[in-house]
Amino acid sequence: MFEDKVVYQIYPKSFLDTTGSGTGDLKGIISKLDYLANLGVDYIWLTPIFPSPQNDNGYDVSDYCDIDKRYGTMQEFENLVSAGNKLGIGIMLDMVFNHTSTQHKWFQAAINGDKYYQDFYIFRSKPTNWQSKFGGPAWEYIENLDKYYLHLFDVSQADLNWDNKNVREELKKVILFWKKRGVKGFRFDVINLISKPQHFEDDLTGDGRKFYTDGAKVHEYIKELVSDTQIGNMITVGEMSSTSLDNCIKYSGENTNELSMCFNFHHLKIDYKDGDKWQLANPNFNELKRLFEYWQYGMQKGHAKQALFSGNHDQPRIVSRWGSENKYWAESAKALATCFLLMNGIPYIYQGEEIGMQNADFKRIEQYKDVESLNYYKILRDKMDKQEALDILHARSRDNSRTPMQWNNDKNAGFSKGKPWIKVNDNYIRINAENQLNDDNSILNYYKKLIQLRKNNLALTKGSIQFIETGFDYVIAYVREYERKRILVMCNLSDSEIEINFEHDKVDWTWLMGNYDSKLFTEKLLLKPFECNIWLA
Ligand code: GLC
Repeated sequence: MFEDKVVYQIYPKSFLDTTGSGTGDLKGIISKLDYLANLGVDYIWLTPIFPSPQNDNGYDVSDYCDIDKRYGTMQEFENLVSAGNKLGIGIMLDMVFNHTSTQHKWFQAAINGDKYYQDFYIFRSKPTNWQSKFGGPAWEYIENLDKYYLHLFDVSQADLNWDNKNVREELKKVILFWKKRGVKGFRFDVINLISKPQHFEDDLTGDGRKFYTDGAKVHEYIKELVSDTQIGNMITVGEMSSTSLDNCIKYSGENTNELSMCFNFHHLKIDYKDGDKWQLANPNFNELKRLFEYWQYGMQKGHAKQALFSGNHDQPRIVSRWGSENKYWAESAKALATCFLLMNGIPYIYQGEEIGMQNADFKRIEQYKDVESLNYYKILRDKMDKQEALDILHARSRDNSRTPMQWNNDKNAGFSKGKPWIKVNDNYIRINAENQLNDDNSILNYYKKLIQLRKNNLALTKGSIQFIETGFDYVIAYVREYERKRILVMCNLSDSEIEINFEHDKVDWTWLMGNYDSKLFTEKLLLKPFECNIWLA
């Protein structure tokens, strides 16, 4: 199910501001539904729009069943749902169920002594040595309780105790609340971290993740949530942090009654030095190929579904990261899209990716807003000088993908008439949606064609995948096949020209599309920098 669908991720805060507040809003999204319908998307996943102190831009939810005033009203949300329905676009909401904001009334009751709500969270008299994913200790002391609470993320995001049946019941009510309002699907934030161990102990070899990642009861809890709220036939995607193939086969397997698909992030760590996000390294394309094969073959064999994506609101922009910002900007954006979005799974496009938006290019620490970036800046500064730390943030900060959507070349890229909450990238004069709408050769129109191609070919939606060895690390090539119809996808992810020898392959291939001119498939295949082609057998 859903292989023929395409999801578009919106970060509402940075999408379109209609009030001049500097923050995007629901009305802004409504006004761009035509743009999204024209692109060909079926679902929009909105990152959290619920009331929140915004310490982590909405991933610190203080009320699951309302709309943050910054974004609009419940009525406007309902308008968005019905306007979407008219265009065949369903709304997916982001359920942040691993933790709540410490401003949530449950947590407030807990720290004010209410025993019932204390059991909603994880309070202990003795902390462990675990590290928060945003840096620093994962436990925070509450003086009047003389206890510590667990927070795997920011100190303002307290982890919920899923072993408490009352917590699970409350969260089911949240799902039912939004289902009733016409929501068509859900994304579950870090859902593989919800099952914590019975006994908490120090991690002598790591940051603690081995004790709570894909925990003992996680599958049981997901099954229960899905079945009790009857969302089994809706589109659901779980964000899986540091997960394993075996677990993902269970999370999104055909008959496991859990979710329809999952995100995993292993392929986006090929440029982390020794697995550390905060140490720069060149992308290891050999490793990328190995990971694609491992996950695509593994999920295929396990009858499970992957979300296909190269970016989101937590990742730097892919074109800056593995592509080219200048000389081969358009070519590389198209090649990366082709490589990612035609594999076996369900494509996700993150706002701005379809026009080749680039990293934020911030020069000063004051320009960054993201809590993780600011925490890590302090940690990095203890080890290195200022410029070195800024260089790392420049490449790795989550703010790289959170700068405002570039709509046109008006002030603030057409995003806001006020002062944007985060700086607009200066390149908006050159890179914006309006410039690309009527240019047949644009990245935007390439995405549109790619989506159509996917939807019109069962080989690309239902087909199996087989990777092809070309002898070059940075060439990703695969065949999708369904009922003897075969489609070959080949992407050169480097800025060099290369020649590939296909002496053994005698198939007759017809060119379907690519990012240069139409190309015959020959035994000696010359690929230009970032050239990609799609052929039909
Ligand atoms: C997920 C979100 C991220 C957030 C974190 C904590 O990884 O994508 O933005 O900070 O969970 O909720």
